[in-house]
Amino acid sequence: MGNMTFFYEDVLSFIQSEALLNQGKVEVEKAYKELVTKRGKGNDFLGWLDLPINVTENEINKIKSVAKQLIEKSEVIVVVGIGGSYLGARAVIEALQPYFTTTDNRKKNTEIVYAGTHLSEDYLHDLLHWLNDKEYSIIIISKSGTTTEPALAFRLLKTHCEKKYGKNNAQRRIVAITDKSRGVLKRIVNSEGYQTFVIPDDVGGRYSVLTPVGLLPIAAAGFDIAKLLLGAKKMRQQLYEATTWQQNPAMQYALLRYLLYTKENRKIELMVSYEPKLLYFIEWFKQLFGESEGKEGKGIFPAGAIFSTDLHSLGQYIQEGERIIFETVLSVINSQKRIPIPYLENNEDELNYLQSKSIQEINLIAEKGTRLAHIEGEVPNFTISISKIDEETLGEMIFFFEFSCALGGYLLDVNPFDQPGVEAYKKNMFKLLGK
Ligand code: PA5
Repeated sequence: MGNMTFFYEDVLSFIQSEALLNQGKVEVEKAYKELVTKRGKGNDFLGWLDLPINVTENEINKIKSVAKQLIEKSEVIVVVGIGGSYLGARAVIEALQPYFTTTDNRKKNTEIVYAGTHLSEDYLHDLLHWLNDKEYSIIIISKSGTTTEPALAFRLLKTHCEKKYGKNNAQRRIVAITDKSRGVLKRIVNSEGYQTFVIPDDVGGRYSVLTPVGLLPIAAAGFDIAKLLLGAKKMRQQLYEATTWQQNPAMQYALLRYLLYTKENRKIELMVSYEPKLLYFIEWFKQLFGESEGKEGKGIFPAGAIFSTDLHSLGQYIQEGERIIFETVLSVINSQKRIPIPYLENNEDELNYLQSKSIQEINLIAEKGTRLAHIEGEVPNFTISISKIDEETLGEMIFFFEFSCALGGYLLDVNPFDQPGVEAYKKNMFKLLGK
């Protein structure tokens, strides 16, 4: 067993029929076989399944060495990319980095900022202005090499960088991650001679966090990519060895959420964490499941929340609104740091009753109280419990969700690896822009 434990007992009671569950077990075991034998839908996009065992030490060392070059010359690294070319890296980096940059940790960690994730002119203006007096480098990531948001941000940043450092020095501050041969970005890379990493053909954007797409920014942020891959490898081994529903947490999760959706009218999965550092992990989950399952008029809508913050906004709806939601709680048992609650002689704020507890203990009690209330309010709850947030655990979680998501797509009888619907807005936008 690894660092992550999956609990589904608080969901089982919502599945009305034993017969349905037994039938479902047969279906999910069939989906599992299709996936591991690579015979299911979209099987030309299954490269992610083997990344944890296929990424070599040489590749890890090359990524680490390029990250080191960038770190040495940069206070800031701007990561440019969107969707699957962005969310995985940010999910891991935000989960691992401290909340605030201090003089102490700045020495250790180069600051990572993001661009190309939207079209805000104010953001791009302020970013360039802020970079005027920072030493910085750029990692541009785009598989197709043609996505408008990162392409436009990169044009601005490249121009700024060349003006600031001169063309030759700028060339040494830019690294590109793209397709091996296709796309406009690849053409620019060829003519400018940037250092490049290739995104494998058989790995789609949202499954690419364990390729250089995620690994280079994560290494550049100062985190251990070998441990991240090790965690994914351990989870892969666990899921490959467990060939039945009884043993396999990904099959259990995929089947029970499928039954909640198809038989119990639970159309929305709310992924929740009581640790705000996991906000972008939840964003990554939303893209992974939303783009993989949401097609052909089907799919659970993936949503996210940070508790206890959002208990003060969404809490009322979850407790008493339409019964269309189930929750998946990412529960972190230990905090990384301790801060004692001061004892006040006059107890003016009436909080002395908390003084013997740690803030993390109070957070876990909030989590427990909420779980009990929500289950009583008929909200099925999955729990994914981790002892602490570190690279290895995040690697396990990444592989667990990718694998479960593929199974979920197969249960819905859709191709979990395409995203034809994403093109619709682009077509309109290009038409309106006169491209
Ligand atoms: O998962 C996907 O395929 C998408 O979210 C893409 O990653 C996203 O649209 C960015 O595409 P690209 O990497 O081609 O710029």
